[in-house]
Amino acid sequence: MRGSRLATTERVVCIAAPGTDEVVDSVASAVADHGLAFVTYDVGETIEEYRITGGDVLGVVVGGDGTFLRAVEEFAPREIPFLSIDTGTLGFLTVTAPDAIPETFDEILGGEATITEHLQARVVTDDIDETGINEIQFDGPDRFTHRPNSNREETGQCELEVFVDGEYVGRYEGEGVLVNTPTGSTAMALSSGGPIHFPGDNETLQITPLHTHNAGVRPLVVDAESEITVVPTGEIRLSVDGSRPERAVPAETRVTVTGAETPAYLVRSSFSETMMDALTSKLGWNVEQRTDTSHREPAAGPTDLLTTASGVAREAAIAAGRPARRIYDRIERSDSGLVSEELVGAAISRSERIITSIVSSAFPDHTILSEGWTVNAGSGPYTWVIDPIDGTGNFVHGNPNFTVAIALVRAGTPVVGVVYSPVTGELFHAVQGNGAYRNETPIEPTDRARIDESMLLSGYDPTGEFLKRFYRRARGVRRLGCASLHLCYVAAGSADAHWEYDTYPWDVAAGLCILREAGGESTHADGSDYQLRLEDTGTRASLLSSNGSLHGALLEAFPEDGF
Ligand code: IPD
Ligand code: CA
Repeated sequence: MRGSRLATTERVVCIAAPGTDEVVDSVASAVADHGLAFVTYDVGETIEEYRITGGDVLGVVVGGDGTFLRAVEEFAPREIPFLSIDTGTLGFLTVTAPDAIPETFDEILGGEATITEHLQARVVTDDIDETGINEIQFDGPDRFTHRPNSNREETGQCELEVFVDGEYVGRYEGEGVLVNTPTGSTAMALSSGGPIHFPGDNETLQITPLHTHNAGVRPLVVDAESEITVVPTGEIRLSVDGSRPERAVPAETRVTVTGAETPAYLVRSSFSETMMDALTSKLGWNVEQRTDTSHREPAAGPTDLLTTASGVAREAAIAAGRPARRIYDRIERSDSGLVSEELVGAAISRSERIITSIVSSAFPDHTILSEGWTVNAGSGPYTWVIDPIDGTGNFVHGNPNFTVAIALVRAGTPVVGVVYSPVTGELFHAVQGNGAYRNETPIEPTDRARIDESMLLSGYDPTGEFLKRFYRRARGVRRLGCASLHLCYVAAGSADAHWEYDTYPWDVAAGLCILREAGGESTHADGSDYQLRLEDTGTRASLLSSNGSLHGALLEAFPEDGF
């Protein structure tokens, strides 16, 4: 997840440890400087659901590791990225120092921070279903509990049969076992002789023995998708992240642990402590203090402008699609089945604002044109051409065929194209020279060359001439009412060609990049290459897009005096 999505934050929800008022006040004032809503809760207090769902929320946790772990329980299931401000003394999780709060928020809300994903572990039995960011701990019953005829339990020892994906790993005898995440590798697992995972966001689980009787037994790392099964031979205790109440697990219970579906999203800014700095200062790894940082890799920057732009455009399209989708869902529930003009306007301007904010924070000197008006007048050769909601008529009627379309254009050529359909979740994207994709799958057009075998799409067709001419000849002529989607469907082989009597650059720029990269063809009605004319939207620009093989046959079948 890219940090640029944080530029669209609407609300900040803070969870704070007792005695941290001063730090919370400075967070509140930094948030107020950005004109955003702010609400704070004491750790353990119930958060009203409406504060935390709907809209783009940034979480903040102020405190030490205990507060952090409670905040993970609130934020992670709701996929809310959060920043941790360290007022605790120990730990590797709380990463931002309180003295850089205004600068930290400038960076985060400017979309320049990063978001790291932290795998969580999920433990399930018939009675338990919990998730932890650090570890699931299995250990013997309390060492002071006396059970008649059992020395083993008196000493807190236990035996655990462990399987991975059904394969028997072995019987662990000793004080127990941890199943820890990479993030948890610097917690309990570290003090039990486990290795540290760097960086903290890889996708594995580690089985760490606790004071086992067999010196040959070592931590075992398995894929996060593996299912780890632990079966105790006697009653044991189970705890999640150390801080929650322990549970008694009876003998012979099958306990499974896997990687959880939802990770925790942690926000890091350039003011956050790096993991190596934390290890150095907290574990005393620094044999020699090294202040010269020139040996470090430079911070990730735009090495390849188009690849970076594509990532930014995808992030922006998905972020903009979120409120559009929320409004669309309200339409479906309304009595009239139509959306009010006010809501359509809100959806369009919200989408435009999100895209502009994300794109301009990544590329401040680029021009941004949205449906014909200049949102940002930049310098240099790059222009972003955006349609905040293409297929507005569909949107109004609760029809799912609408998109967010974003293109980057250089010298009249779309070099990056992203078309996102918020209802179906299809994300079409292309970078000049790198092929075209639907989500992660490469796409290509069909190779049909005969009109009578083809499915055609018609866009704006004021006289109905295209429909008249091809309806009987082709296998079908469809009209979805969304030019950007039409182009993507031709690019992906869901139709063979697409006709528009007139087009505007923002309707077609993103789709054209995707179509061309997929291997399709695009011309005007006279067969000349389709030209995007950003400065001249007054002249009619017809468009025939196709799989390429069908193009000639279609042009030949056009009326002699043109459409
Ligand atoms: C329209 C749609 C439609 C196309 C029109 C566009 P809008 O865009 O893409 O399919 O035929 O030319 O103006 O108004 O829904 O954003
Ligand atoms: Ca449009």
